[in-house]
Amino acid sequence: MSTPKNSAAWLIKAGSSLQVGDAPLPTAGPGELVIKNAAVAINPLDCHMQDSGVFVQIWPAVFGCDVAGEVYEVGKDVERFKRGNRVIGHAINLTSGRPQDGAFALYTVIPANKAAILPDEISFTDGVVVPFALEAAVCVLSLKGPGVAMPGVATPALGLPYPSLQDVPSPGKTLVIYGGSSSVGSMTTQLATAAGIHVIAIAGAHNFEFSKRCGACQVFDRNDTSLADKVSDAVRKNGGEFVGIFDAIATPETYAHDIIILDQLGGGHLACVHPPPNIDLPANINAGMIFAVNNVATPVWEEYVTPALQSEKLQCLPPPFVVGKGLEHIQTALEQSKAGVSAMKLVVEL
Ligand SMILES: NC(=O)c1ccc[n+]([C@@H]2O[C@H](COP(=O)([O-])OP(=O)(O)OC[C@H]3O[C@@H](n4cnc5c(N)ncnc54)[C@H](OP(=O)(O)O)[C@@H]3O)[C@@H](O)[C@H]2O)c1
Repeated sequence: MSTPKNSAAWLIKAGSSLQVGDAPLPTAGPGELVIKNAAVAINPLDCHMQDSGVFVQIWPAVFGCDVAGEVYEVGKDVERFKRGNRVIGHAINLTSGRPQDGAFALYTVIPANKAAILPDEISFTDGVVVPFALEAAVCVLSLKGPGVAMPGVATPALGLPYPSLQDVPSPGKTLVIYGGSSSVGSMTTQLATAAGIHVIAIAGAHNFEFSKRCGACQVFDRNDTSLADKVSDAVRKNGGEFVGIFDAIATPETYAHDIIILDQLGGGHLACVHPPPNIDLPANINAGMIFAVNNVATPVWEEYVTPALQSEKLQCLPPPFVVGKGLEHIQTALEQSKAGVSAMKLVVEL
């Protein structure tokens, strides 16, 4: 059998367009898989990496976090997968820096503990919306102790249970999710709901139904002039324990609302997707920033994702929007992502 040729969408220098060119065919090390990608998804992180070169460790670079495809090679010590399995997985060039760990290629190496079998009924295009957002969501919800997100910034430690395949009795906890229509916000809504947490979301009025489909019990309009008061009232009315806020948007505007809500409710966690507000926060606000590569997600990858997709407890949301087919469409998809998306994940089929 002849060796297949690999290609990748390379970033030669920060701020330049990706260039499609040859790449070495990667091999699977211990605990790794090589995936023959059928679809990859775009994340805002990719846009930051392209524009500024942030997180790039090796030039030229191949980045990208989400892959769906078939297992091409299985590394030593991997028991859960075999060649030919249909999978989704989280590519971790972000932390390793290695080009072979970037999604934007025909073949990508991923850690086996960040992959799951994709049920036959689910297309690669749908499945690829899940991986990075899923790992981010677990990092929001289930870390038990603070770690380091970046120098001087701690990770949040909400210590909430993992999602369950069963309908679990509610532990009586409420979490506010700011950005219920975003990829990470909607996935966090799904996983928190599957752990029995009562989710109150904030989203654009046009995305209320979408956020509810992900499990939010109530959704408030991001443009409501009384937003903070209404969210605080809803949390009080729900009773039980207020866990805090996951801010999946993390801008000065959202932080201003977060601080009012937390003040009105006596404090709590403030988990953010970017560094928390750079001000002296009251002692009763426990702020942190997620860093979405963490083995806290391993049990979810190994035990939850496949059966939850099968039973539709885990939905492939936000829905994919296919920008094109072929590595050369990744550049267009990045530009579309920079222009902004609403409750959708940009996907390139390969
Ligand atoms: N630290 C980490 O490890 C980590 C991991 C993953 C992502 N991130 C960061 O998290 C952020 C979200 O990523 P993503 O992929 O989830 O984004 P995304 O899906 O591209 O977000 C787009 C959505 O955000 C909503 N939105 C924008 N501003 C809003 C506001 N003020 N209030 C409520 N909703 C608002 C939009 O709603 P409309 O439809 O109303 O416009 C849209 O539906 C990005 O900045 C990303 O870089 C960080």
